Amino acid sequence: MIYATTFAFFILCVVLLWIGIPRRISEPWKFLARGRQMLIQRAREHNGKPFSILIPGNRLHLVSSKAHWEDLNNTSLNHLSSHVWSKEHFQPKYTFGYEWPDRRQDDGMPVIRAIRTLSNQFSGLRERYVSLMESDLNDALKIYIQPNGISVIPLWETVKRLGSRMNIMMLFGQHIANDSEFVDRGLKYIDEVTLVSEAAKSFPLFLMPLMSRIIRGRNLNAQYVREIATHLILDIFTHPEYLPALREEVKDVLGNPASDINKLPLLENFLIESIRFHCFLSTVVHRVPLKSFSFSDGYTVPKGEIVEFYQYSVMNDETIHSNPNEFNPKRFEGKARKATDISMEWPFWGNSKMACPGRFHVCNVAKLIAIYFITNFDCDVTNSHNPSFEFRDVSVPHPKWELIMRRRTM
Ligand code: HEM
Repeated sequence: MIYATTFAFFILCVVLLWIGIPRRISEPWKFLARGRQMLIQRAREHNGKPFSILIPGNRLHLVSSKAHWEDLNNTSLNHLSSHVWSKEHFQPKYTFGYEWPDRRQDDGMPVIRAIRTLSNQFSGLRERYVSLMESDLNDALKIYIQPNGISVIPLWETVKRLGSRMNIMMLFGQHIANDSEFVDRGLKYIDEVTLVSEAAKSFPLFLMPLMSRIIRGRNLNAQYVREIATHLILDIFTHPEYLPALREEVKDVLGNPASDINKLPLLENFLIESIRFHCFLSTVVHRVPLKSFSFSDGYTVPKGEIVEFYQYSVMNDETIHSNPNEFNPKRFEGKARKATDISMEWPFWGNSKMACPGRFHVCNVAKLIAIYFITNFDCDVTNSHNPSFEFRDVSVPHPKWELIMRRRTM
């Protein structure tokens, strides 16, 4: 009840602000619900030049050219701080209950090395990932079976659980990945962190102890490997013209644990195109200048404001990807691009100053999930009218997407 009242109050505030309050106050609130579309419009108006927008609690500067990318890449994290951005974005005081010290060199580097090492173990863990998928999907097929004997599963929820269990297996081992209480608690925790951090940026801080108590114990959406895997499954089954070739390419993979899932060019191109097409995070390389920062073209970001690279613009740049609005995995044929690449033209995993060490694991897991679905099921997709759900600058698969699944007979 208290949650419903707070939510209604929140919606009322947003509507009132939307209709009649000066832009300085209303723009940050609008950003929460329409941020992605606001950035698209603003970027169009500025025609590739840097621009800024008010967001809850701060001003966000967006850059998208090669020169800006190089400037970001060549500037020390002691000047353009990722840590300060993380603290502002995740609000650890309210989400985790304590302040984060900046200890990337001492604590962070061993974690990064551990993630790389664990990602390299993928081929050894592959069989366990497959049996985990088998058991999760068998459960889902039984739970969501219809009277006509066909199962219609909620795609987002199913892949969310699957992806999380695979992450947990990589990080903590099989025993913990099989502990459903741990998995449920972990999923809920990520959701709570997302919501509490958003509230901390949007509500006056004196309300935060109350907001934090209200939110904890509720279950909403968050982002992870699952966006990529869910989009990939959707793209595969909404483009059935590629299925015969995909099935041919992956037909021996599950039966042969020694096969290399990084040598499947059509699937690789499908994954790259899926990431490009949905570009579920509009921005990347998030930084806060500890003192005022000027790009080489003179554009200046004052101390304490946020600067990000607007990757949506690159992913939809006609000069890099012709007909960017068309889903076309073949555009990457013969280009030797990998989904895990790092470059200005493929900014998804950050720049070389701080590239994501989890990217190999994420792409391996997404491919393995796709291979499992392609090999074992014929699927149709429902809910084609609501492709995604947008929040701030992010677009996640709509939770209402469902897969009508029939086991293939081989
Ligand atoms: C869809 C999933 C993911 C996306 C899109 C993603 C994206 C990114 C990006 C863009 C960065 C660079 C941040 C910056 O420069 O500001 C980053 C850093 C990082 N990511 Fe990921 N990531 C994902 C999943 C993961 C996973 C699964 C792990 C761990 C298993 C992970 C661990 C890290 C770590 C530790 C860093 C910091 C690296 C450093 O300090 O040098 N990420 N990620």
